[in-house]
Amino acid sequence: MISVIYNNSPANIQQAAKIIKDGGLVAFPTDTVYGLGANVYNPKAVAAIFEAKGRPTFDPLISHIAEVDFLSEYACTDERVLELAKHFWPGPLTFVLKRKDNNPSLDLVCSGLPHIAVRMPNHPLALNLIKSAGVPIAAPSANKFKCISPTTAQHVADSLGDKVDMILDGGPCKIGVETTIIDLTTPEIVMLRAGGLSKEDIESFTGEKVIISHGDPNKPSAPGQLLKHYAPRMPMRINVLEEDVRPDEFFIGFGQTPKAQLNLSPSGNLSEAASNLFAYMRIAETHTEYSGIAMSPIPEDGLGLAINDRIRRASYDK
Ligand code: TXA
Ligand code: MG
Repeated sequence: MISVIYNNSPANIQQAAKIIKDGGLVAFPTDTVYGLGANVYNPKAVAAIFEAKGRPTFDPLISHIAEVDFLSEYACTDERVLELAKHFWPGPLTFVLKRKDNNPSLDLVCSGLPHIAVRMPNHPLALNLIKSAGVPIAAPSANKFKCISPTTAQHVADSLGDKVDMILDGGPCKIGVETTIIDLTTPEIVMLRAGGLSKEDIESFTGEKVIISHGDPNKPSAPGQLLKHYAPRMPMRINVLEEDVRPDEFFIGFGQTPKAQLNLSPSGNLSEAASNLFAYMRIAETHTEYSGIAMSPIPEDGLGLAINDRIRRASYDK
């Protein structure tokens, strides 16, 4: 299967929607990263996602919707869920909710769990595609399992180009790290994965403390928690000060780091850093004249939580 990158046009969106309805795979842009999408109600198509990514089926997928009304089709909602949805959707926040019924066609998407993960992406192309397809779209990040998530259509073509029917190009993703995932199946709000929406933003809206999950990383309820993930093809050291970078290391800086080959954000802006993170890790790993990557320390607040989470896993070497 040879796939090509298609630009954002009504005809291409219609074609992509037809592919989804017919059980094929379409990669599409979101506000966070590119997703590899299939009809959530078609287990064969969902299975093809796991196969294309080389992803184990115990690792459930997020389903993407374009209207809040869709939620009640398969998930249990309450006032807290709807308030959060109204405030933060469309946007970089995923909810884990109780499934409403045991529709067996959703078992694979949910990896057999009684819960389903749902989000509404803040990207017009993604929303148009979901509406045209008329079904929620299951989509993990469009990369091979454990590899760096894609933030451009070309990144998708490079790693999964021969495995998808179509790649829709919506330009580079604005946020650049995946969604924040919160579990809303318990009275507390539990953050399963740090991501594009900060913990502080959720707390200031709800007036409640968000609990950070420290589940067993090798038996993850959100496998973004696997210790090794998002890995570049070269060893990476993190929290490296400019003066400690070794001569054989490609240096990705942050803030005042004039010797950096690439700087995530010279002004020290965490949103800018998040949006550059995966693309810069991809560039760094192509510099095979170096034997490793060194990365500056990143402050552990706001989007820094998500950035540090990703680079810790990317640098894990066991
Ligand atoms: O930004 C994003 O969230 C991107 C874009 C494409 O939407 N998607 C993404 O999907 O990052 P993926 O598959 O790479 O990560 C999905 C995470 C996994 O860690 C998965 O375990 C968790 O969501 N998840 C999905 N369903 C779940 C469930 N029922 N219970 C707990 N965690 C779940
Ligand atoms: Mg992923």
